[in-house]
Amino acid sequence: MAQMTAPAVAARKGSGEPLVMITAYDAPSARVVDASGAEMILVGDSVAMVVLGYDDTLQVTVADMAHHIAAVARAKPDALIVGDMPWMSYHVSREETVRNAATLVRAGAGCVKLEGGRKRLDAIGAILDLEIPVMGHIGLTPQSVHALGGFKVQGKQLDAAREIVDDAVALADAGCFSIVLEAVPDGVARMVTDSVPVPTIGIGAGRHCDGQVLVWHDLLGFSAPDRKQPKFVRRYADLETAATVAVAEFVADVREGRFPSSAETYHMADQMAEGLGLYGGTTSEPANA
Ligand code: KIV
Repeated sequence: MAQMTAPAVAARKGSGEPLVMITAYDAPSARVVDASGAEMILVGDSVAMVVLGYDDTLQVTVADMAHHIAAVARAKPDALIVGDMPWMSYHVSREETVRNAATLVRAGAGCVKLEGGRKRLDAIGAILDLEIPVMGHIGLTPQSVHALGGFKVQGKQLDAAREIVDDAVALADAGCFSIVLEAVPDGVARMVTDSVPVPTIGIGAGRHCDGQVLVWHDLLGFSAPDRKQPKFVRRYADLETAATVAVAEFVADVREGRFPSSAETYHMADQMAEGLGLYGGTTSEPANA
């Protein structure tokens, strides 16, 4: 795949070829996502929950996001790097907003994503003025967890559904090149997708979107077994279990003398070992070879 860009993503609207975005937060996960051929890597503020162990996304800062974006960028992916603007980074003033967006781009993002509809048009305009492409995010906006009363499906009532469609149209009119739609009924997603000239990327929004996004740890089953998965998550592997088994095997090998083996050891030349009086001067093999 050639280097993906925001205009190339926007141009996919109506092509019938679904876009794929997957989150990644460091160089190895970025390499894996890029090798899959996904068009976009989202360095999401979900890093707060799936990597850093917080209960919500409100705890991460611009510095945290820049740190993870830079790690992803060092993998030099062809996929477009979408840098998520954390809570409080685009809410205070135009000046802070543009500085924060620029920090994420300098870290390696090719565009930024921010949450909210018509309320955020000023922030979006300011960032677009800097020539930085903006991806919108509406429906369930996790940075609004307290105002929403939890991580709940949005747009279940007629008025709320209409608000979401109006927000989407306003974001597209303002110049967003794409819009994430999170946790809305599929009928609402369909109305939005049919109402905007830019691609919609769904997560928990059903199939009537121009693309889909999933979180790396959810897709790979790398999440605490006691964490309830939303119904839209499909697990393609059980890496938490696989990693737990592998690490426990290593621990047992060390404790029972099976690690390291001779082949995993740097050996001293026999002559030198003899000179030092090691191994009784007869062999350079350690006891548990
Ligand atoms: O931070 C994130 O991972 C996201 C996705 C849920 C879209 O915003």
